[in-house]
Amino acid sequence: MTQHGYAKGLTNYGDPEFSKFLRGAFLRQMGFDREDYEKPIVGIVNTYSELNPCHRGFIELAPAVRRGVLEAGGLPVELPTISLGETFLHPTSMLFRNLMAIDTEEMVRAHPLDAVVLMGGCDKTTPAQLMGAASANLPAVFLAAGSMLTGDWQGERLGACTDCRRLWGEYRGGRIGEREIDAIQGQLMPTAGTCMVMGTASTMACVSEALGMMVPGGASPPAAYADRLRIGVESGRTAVRLAQSGLAPERIMTPEAFENAIRVLLAIGGSTNGVVHLTAMAGRLGIVIEPDAFDRLSEDTPMIVNLKPSGAYYMEDFHKAGGMRVVLHALKDKLHLDCLTVSGRTWRELLDEPFTHPDWQDVIYPASAPLQEKGGMVILRGNLAGDGAVLKRSAASPELMQHTGRAVVFDSLEDLSARIDAPELDVTPDDVLVLRNAGPIGAPGMPESGYIPIPRKLAQQGVKDMVRISDARMSGTAYGTIVLHIAPEAAVGGGLALVNSGDRIELDVARRGLNVLLDDATLARRREQWRPPELATPRGYLKLHREQVQQAHLGCDLAFLRPPERHRIR
Ligand code: FES
Repeated sequence: MTQHGYAKGLTNYGDPEFSKFLRGAFLRQMGFDREDYEKPIVGIVNTYSELNPCHRGFIELAPAVRRGVLEAGGLPVELPTISLGETFLHPTSMLFRNLMAIDTEEMVRAHPLDAVVLMGGCDKTTPAQLMGAASANLPAVFLAAGSMLTGDWQGERLGACTDCRRLWGEYRGGRIGEREIDAIQGQLMPTAGTCMVMGTASTMACVSEALGMMVPGGASPPAAYADRLRIGVESGRTAVRLAQSGLAPERIMTPEAFENAIRVLLAIGGSTNGVVHLTAMAGRLGIVIEPDAFDRLSEDTPMIVNLKPSGAYYMEDFHKAGGMRVVLHALKDKLHLDCLTVSGRTWRELLDEPFTHPDWQDVIYPASAPLQEKGGMVILRGNLAGDGAVLKRSAASPELMQHTGRAVVFDSLEDLSARIDAPELDVTPDDVLVLRNAGPIGAPGMPESGYIPIPRKLAQQGVKDMVRISDARMSGTAYGTIVLHIAPEAAVGGGLALVNSGDRIELDVARRGLNVLLDDATLARRREQWRPPELATPRGYLKLHREQVQQAHLGCDLAFLRPPERHRIR
């Protein structure tokens, strides 16, 4: 008989009855009694950390979840795991996403839990928790922190971190001064919560709801709203029902559910990081998402959400406009409606409820009159990107979508910082900035440095965008004509490794091409001469990462954590 509650997964002393007796004694130490022994145990995985400001609101949100669990007759127990605060980690939070996924998987599996509420939200925490939940296959509800409210500077709304980058660009260009930038710094993150544009955190929240792993309506309420607390309570209740029904992630995160999530990623103009994270999450269930699937679905999915960095508004506006319910209704004809959600109901049942598109607003457009006819992302290939690269076309400059320019190559992040602002840098606005050795192995951890700054001397002339290409990622809050996730990366000998400054590079978005204009013989000669970069000898987790991390088109997971392929989304 399958055990549940406190009798599940007993510590092994060779005498199961003693193990149960001893565990009961320790439960009593915490103030529980025999009546509690029978209840489903719901783990509240609380990633509050004073080094993760986006999760500041968990101090208030975790008790709301606890209340929901108690109301539904469960026994709530709170436990910590690793937390990843995006801007507080060196060299990059992405290096630790897989470590957090391992922590989540092992802790929810090892403890006597019947279901979990995973409290996350800051960029990497969402995929890490869902990757862990997928591998552990324990009933789970994902609860996002909710976004920040916007700030204000001289009557202008500010949002992290699109406006951080825009205004820092103005400061670099000399158009605003020290005093102004200091005042702006104090207004960019005015409340608890995650970045309030459609950056990676908001993207992953919306995508998690589309996947079915979140309480319906759970993606959009800002952290400071009462709606967020109510979603917390409902997440607690839902987890108890999941513990009773045994509905596990594998039955929710199906190939069809991932297709729904990709549609939503494209329709909301979501972060390019969503491509890597969805690929990694699916990989944990033996579902391979080919890069070209994003392109295929992008051609057939309208972009309907008008949020920064692609559009004009912020998450609180998205919430007031109806949030994901409106988005899912707009996409209804394109979704797999029989997919189950953690609510125990299918999207068909949820979306069949009476609904009228809120046409009073300018935030979420109907599919019949979208913001853009096609989705926000394209996949590029060519001699620079044999396994693909990503461009967020919704955030790019239309006049640069077809562009040929001279390469200006930076060999590493250190080289970039040392030379990008040098007055003697040989660069013009028509050039293509190239950053290499910034991928999963080379950097390591594939940092968000693909948003290569415009060289200061060009910024001072008013240049706002240039074609920039790299094997790095980019923050979901950034924008520009920026090609990312080039695979294979330069550090393992990808095409990017063979480019020299002065070569001509062609970006052709219409034909999905990214090529250096060199003949095959020249490329072959350079390949023969190429030597891998010298990387510091790693130890500990970094050693494991370097030995096991996969390339961007596979989601940058650790190879040994992925089960064999069961399904392929092409
Ligand atoms: Fe945490 Fe942006 S830094 S969501």
